[in-house]
Amino acid sequence: MAREYLNFINGKFVPAKSGKKYENRNPADTDDLIGIFPSSGADDVDEAVRAAKMAYSAWRALPVPKRGEIIRRATEILIKRKEELARLMTREMGKVLKETRGDVQEAIDTGLYAAGESRRLWGKVVPSELPNKVAFVTRQPMGVWGMICPWNFPMAIPSWKIFPALICGNTVVIKPATLTPASVHEFVAALTEAGLPSGVVNIVYGEGRVVGEAFLNHPDICGISFTGSSVIGRRIAEICGKHLKRCSLELGGKNAQIVMGDADLELALEGVIWGAFGTTGQRCTATSRLIVESQVYEQFLEMVVERAKRLKVGNGLDETVEMGPLVSEGQRKTVHSYVEIGKSEGARLVCGGEFLKGGDYDRGFFYKPTIFADVKPQMRIAQEEIFGPVLSVIKVKDFTEAIAVLNSTSYGLSSSIYTRDVNRAFKAIEQIEAGITYINAPTIGAECHLPFGGVKETGNGHREGGWTAYEIFSELKTVYVDYSGILQKAQIDTADD
Ligand code: UN1
Repeated sequence: MAREYLNFINGKFVPAKSGKKYENRNPADTDDLIGIFPSSGADDVDEAVRAAKMAYSAWRALPVPKRGEIIRRATEILIKRKEELARLMTREMGKVLKETRGDVQEAIDTGLYAAGESRRLWGKVVPSELPNKVAFVTRQPMGVWGMICPWNFPMAIPSWKIFPALICGNTVVIKPATLTPASVHEFVAALTEAGLPSGVVNIVYGEGRVVGEAFLNHPDICGISFTGSSVIGRRIAEICGKHLKRCSLELGGKNAQIVMGDADLELALEGVIWGAFGTTGQRCTATSRLIVESQVYEQFLEMVVERAKRLKVGNGLDETVEMGPLVSEGQRKTVHSYVEIGKSEGARLVCGGEFLKGGDYDRGFFYKPTIFADVKPQMRIAQEEIFGPVLSVIKVKDFTEAIAVLNSTSYGLSSSIYTRDVNRAFKAIEQIEAGITYINAPTIGAECHLPFGGVKETGNGHREGGWTAYEIFSELKTVYVDYSGILQKAQIDTADD
């Protein structure tokens, strides 16, 4: 019998009011039923928001380092349970064990950083223009945050959102991705075991268009933190704009790796294979374009194709497997439709482009690592986010063209350049339009203590990760303390001036 999971509201497990449920299955083996989850409605969201609102005043009153201690304890639980949680995550999301261990580790690192931040949470002290007066800026909590999470980083991304929001003194209602709810259940279970008071974090499972939608229009939700597609992000921003709700959006990418003629090609090869096919290409930081300088184009293309063809695809629980399945049949169909688009646009399919079939493959959503060569920068496969193991290779004549091609999409999350020329590397840092640039390293692998986010249609200016996450989840309070004992007027000329 599969385990039945329930919403988590005010410290209690409760079914969806409608009684509706859905199944969560392993994308590498659809015979493996991981659990049954509630398919919630707006009334469930309402109840969760009420609980989060009730819990808010006591939570915000707790000294920040005390909030940090709970997070540190939760992190210790995650450390102890890392292997078990990684296995569960591989079963529900499909990515290989090495990567799900990394996902749990990213949550652990984010927790340790958050616990440290709880003893800092710096404001600023600045001089006043008047004597006997001090001025400073401090951070204040905001209220109840609504969080809408993706399935590709089932624990890391919820941790990027929940930990800083809690340190800042907010309470939370989270909607996990429908495809990866068990990881969020376990993540919040660690917080509960660590002593998080009831109602501070609530989970409502269900579909984005029902649960997420209810968050957007809820008057008691002060902000929305969303990671997902730019199409949905734009809609969230519109609704939040109407209600003047803060929203932090982490959206799509069409990340490129540039390989210059002088690059260490073996290193660049390892980078592109990891960047393009890690997580089966389902990262917003995935390398989906490879831009190669003409003198090494044929040679490097051959190296990449040869390596991609040898990638071992299979069930991520097998330690020898290098690439897992796509997360769902829907995702596999989307990927395949882009392959059809690429072919019809005239790009040269040099490997993959098909479902993997036969034997165990028939029980999952497997797809071959796919490479298109001779892609033109304006083709749809070079412009639109595919979110799958599909790499578009583009030939350029020089550095200037490489940068122009890299910048020619509407996205700007991650980017990378392989070169041995230090001057060029710094020019690239200056000229690339992206939130993240790697030199001689792949487009994936951001570290949790640094700002994470992108420019253009990748987001709306916020940065998760590092100290900047704390800016998302807090309001600034500017304070003036006048200890002169007289009325002092800023900006007003006085008689003896
Ligand atoms: C994402 O794909 O949404 O930099 C996040 C990386 C990871 C995070 C990716 N640390 O690839």
